[in-house]
Amino acid sequence: MDRVLSHTDRLLAALGRRLARLAETAGSSAGRENPAPAGPDAPLDAATRRHIAGLMRVNHAGEVAAQALYHGQAFVARSERTRAHLLAAAREEQDHLRWCEERLRELGDRPSRLQPLWYAGSFVIGAAAGLAGDHWSLGFIDETERQVSEHLSEHLAQLPPQDTKSRAILERMRADEERHGRDAREAGGRALPVPVRGLMRQIARVMKFGAYRL
Ligand SMILES: [Fe+2]
Ligand SMILES: [Fe+2]
Repeated sequence: MDRVLSHTDRLLAALGRRLARLAETAGSSAGRENPAPAGPDAPLDAATRRHIAGLMRVNHAGEVAAQALYHGQAFVARSERTRAHLLAAAREEQDHLRWCEERLRELGDRPSRLQPLWYAGSFVIGAAAGLAGDHWSLGFIDETERQVSEHLSEHLAQLPPQDTKSRAILERMRADEERHGRDAREAGGRALPVPVRGLMRQIARVMKFGAYRL
């Protein structure tokens, strides 16, 4: 009985330390400046403005999800090195989140009302990926960032040419996501099985559909 208790104690203490570490870093950002050019917005008609805001709301929700995935993975990461890697990337996602939020405000719109759902669902998925082991967890990042980069390219193609502000933000985000993927691969990420990649796309599709509207 004593042995079971001491195991439980150690486990709880370890979880407590991990939570404290997460709490320390959650919400902190890499502090980089919004890359959008300063100055007034180009003229946009109401329908175009609404569409751009829908796209930026999807991207904002994606950044909420990205942070939650990283936090979930960091919570269960086996090695301190992997945890530090994950939390550093999460801080950059916090920059992206802020830039999208600033752009939404400029467009007279708001983030998704389903944010808590995107965060909670993604945290659980991140923790599940992390429990598979650090190499799979890093492989999961590589795949996530690849899918996000492709998705950002689709959004960039939809932006009207005069919207240089949204464009600058999405281009910078895409460059960061590509680097996040590369870093994870170089840190030992393993290629995910095809069905898992397909499932990730399906989940992302549901999120994009929901966040564009709600
Ligand atoms: Fe991001
Ligand atoms: Fe990223």
